[in-house]
Parts: sequence; structure tokens; C-alpha cells
Amino acid sequence: MEYRGPLAKSCWLLLLLLLLPSHNHQGQVLRQIPPTQVQERDREIQEPPAVHLSNGPGQEPVSIMTFNLTKITKSSSFFEFRTWDPEGVIFYGDTNPKDDWFVLALRDGRPEIQLYNQWAQLTVGAGPRLDNGRWHQVEVKTLEDSVLLRVDGEQVLRLRQVSGPLTKNSQPIMRIALGGLLFPASNLRLPLVPALDACLRRDNWLDQQAQISASSPTSLRSCAIESQPGIFFPPGTRAEFNLQDVPQPHVEPWTFSLDLGLQLAAGSGHLLALGTPENPSWLSLHLQDQKVVLFYGSGPGLDLPLVLGLPLQLKLDESRVLLSHGPKKILAQPPMGLTSLLNLWAHPQGKLFLGTLPGETSSASFCLDGLWAQDQRLDLDRALSRSQDIWTHSCPQHLGNGTNTTH
Ligand SMILES: *[C@@H]1O[C@H](CO)[C@@H](O)[C@H](O)[C@H]1NC(C)=O
Ligand SMILES: *[C@@H]1O[C@H](CO)[C@@H](O)[C@H](O)[C@H]1NC(C)=O
Repeated sequence: MEYRGPLAKSCWLLLLLLLLPSHNHQGQVLRQIPPTQVQERDREIQEPPAVHLSNGPGQEPVSIMTFNLTKITKSSSFFEFRTWDPEGVIFYGDTNPKDDWFVLALRDGRPEIQLYNQWAQLTVGAGPRLDNGRWHQVEVKTLEDSVLLRVDGEQVLRLRQVSGPLTKNSQPIMRIALGGLLFPASNLRLPLVPALDACLRRDNWLDQQAQISASSPTSLRSCAIESQPGIFFPPGTRAEFNLQDVPQPHVEPWTFSLDLGLQLAAGSGHLLALGTPENPSWLSLHLQDQKVVLFYGSGPGLDLPLVLGLPLQLKLDESRVLLSHGPKKILAQPPMGLTSLLNLWAHPQGKLFLGTLPGETSSASFCLDGLWAQDQRLDLDRALSRSQDIWTHSCPQHLGNGTNTTH
């Protein structure tokens, strides 16, 4: 099934994205190797390290490759990846971002293909959830007019009548971008947040012989550290949400709740705060000497011993703040003269800060198993802003070497 001469005259865009059972350079058929053998091979063969797909909040791809379409004789794309993140872009390919592009993404943990060309425009989800932190093999290929998607050796999708010969005036260059798009996310047929906290390895894109260029990956993270699901704030990192953008307080009576589970914590510094950019700490939670300390206005700090794994809840109402940590609770009244916390929701700059406050130096690092406002989960990918070093959907299994820095 090799395409040679005729391809120059009648190229198939999607054919190029994929094709042929997957042979790596040693000629082994990768997709027939069961997972246990994959792990064994892992230990036996020294191979390039896995590449992390996130490139910070800018959501740019971590790598871009270009291929000369007229030179492609073999076209098949396959790779292994692992993630705890249910949404984001795995790869994007195009000959033209306006009218000939293809995206493989995850949505709700399952693969999704969006494609747009002269034969078809469609969005389709298929296959099992892949956001379980295990390595999965994925292969995308075209066969005649079809696109096939295989996951862990099983064909999970066949799209027919979605590909055909490229017209003469088409761009003879195909681009493939990993972990991001080469157009604004709003140009997708069905928008999603492109950032994907995932690792990719053993990837093989189209035809090496036809590759014109490849940018070296600009990942901010290493994939060498074993991860678990969660949200990880390395020391000095911060995320901000507009209070207008998170689930709104209950009215009559006015109440608002924040829940988080601390799985790991080290150092001292802010965990979260409610305030404005000028006065970020109307109310805040601090990590300090294995304690959680609640500060309300200029009042004294009230502390509870920190027990990792127990849920931490802040409940606000018009006249007081209740902090619960497992079975323990503390209650804080607003200090004299402080205007009610309610006003923060009326303030155009009212914010929820997580991690280090603006201008603060902090040694605190922590892993949350989740973050909920009014019982609804907040997604760090949808924060107003965040430090690019935050792990949005994973945590190290231990705090220590390799987690204080991003490399
Ligand atoms: C693509 O390959 C063809 C055939 O070898 C060559 O003539 C053309 O210059 C190449 N284009 C680019 C942009 O490298
Ligand atoms: C951390 O790194 C230091 C120096 O590189 C080393 O001495 C220490 O044993 C490491 N600790 C762990 C837990 O790996």
C-alpha cells in the first residue's frame, strides 16, 4: 500500500495524515503489541523521552512540522499518549487553515475529530475515555476516501467520503502541530480549550522522507515524573478567576462556598484569597507550618492543623465565615469596619486568587484533588489567567526533587 508517483498528481490530504498499518523503523507492527509488552519494551529500548504537550496558557503548539506533499510515499500517523485531562488538542494538521484542516482532540475524555475540507466538514466523537493516566496507542490514517481512527489496536471510527484528491492550486506543504492549533480556537467547528496536560511518545508522523522542517519541542514540563490526577501549583505560581466567571453565590440568604482537597502541601504561603488586584486579601487561606490559617480582613489569623487528604471548605454568608477541615471547624466574624464580603461580587475586579498573591514571595507548593465553587468544579484551563508552570490536570505523586522547578 505504498503511494508513489501518482501521488504527486492526485494527492490525498488525509491520506497524508495517516495510512498503512503502523510500521516503525524496525518494521514492527506497533498496534499489535499488547500493553504489557509495551512496558517491557520500554525498559529494554532507550528511546527519546516523552514530550509534554502543554506550552503554557498561550496554548501554542509545542512543536510544528512541515511536509512536502509531493514527496510523500508513506503516510501514517501514530503515537502513544497519556493524560488525566479530559479536554484539549492532541494534534492539528492542515494544508491551509482556511479550508483544509484536521484536528484530533479530546472532549469529555474521548477522542474527537473535527475536519474541514472540500469534501466534508464534520465533528465527531468516538471511542473510549482515554483520560485515565495510562498510555494509549492512537493511529489515524486514511484509506481511499475514509479516515480511520484506531485506539489501542481497535478501530473506533471510520469516516467515509471525507477525503479526495487535492486540487492543483492547493498548498504543496502540509503542517502538523502538536498540542495546539495554528488558528484561533474560535475557528474550530465546535470550540474547545486547546491546552492539554498530556505526554506524547513514540510518535511517527507521515513520511520522514518528506519532512521539510520540525521545530524542537518547547514543552515547559518533563514527562519523567509519575503523575496522579489533580491540580499542582509549584512554588510561586498563581491562577486568577473573575468572581463574575465562577458559579454565583446563592441569594436570599446570601451564601457562597469553596471546596478543595489538599493532597500534598509544602512550604509557606497563600493557598487562596478573595479580593481585588489592589487589595487581594479581603479573605485568605495560608499554608504555614503544617497549618491552614484563615485571615479575614485585618483580623488575627485563625488556624487549624493541616491533615492532607481531608476536604477543606470555606462557607461564607453575610455575617461570618466558616472554615471546615474534616471534622474541625473555625468561625470568623468580619473585623469592625470591614465592608461586607458581598461587595466583592459587586466589584468589577473581584477575584478568586489561587496560590501566590501578586507581589508576594511564597515557598508554598500544593496539589489539589479538585476545586469547587458552589459545588461546581472549576477548570484551571478556563481561569482568567494562570502561571504557565501550573499543572492543570495532574500532580506529582510526591513533592520533592523535580517538582520545585518545571524541568
Ligand atoms: C517538494 O518536492 C518537490 C519534488 O522533489 C520539489 O520540486 C519541491 O521544490 C519541494 N518543495 C519544497 C517547498 O520543498
Ligand atoms: C533530591 O536531590 C538531592 C540532590 O540532587 C539528593 O541528594 C536527594 O537524595 C534527592 N531526594 C530525593 C527524595 O530524591
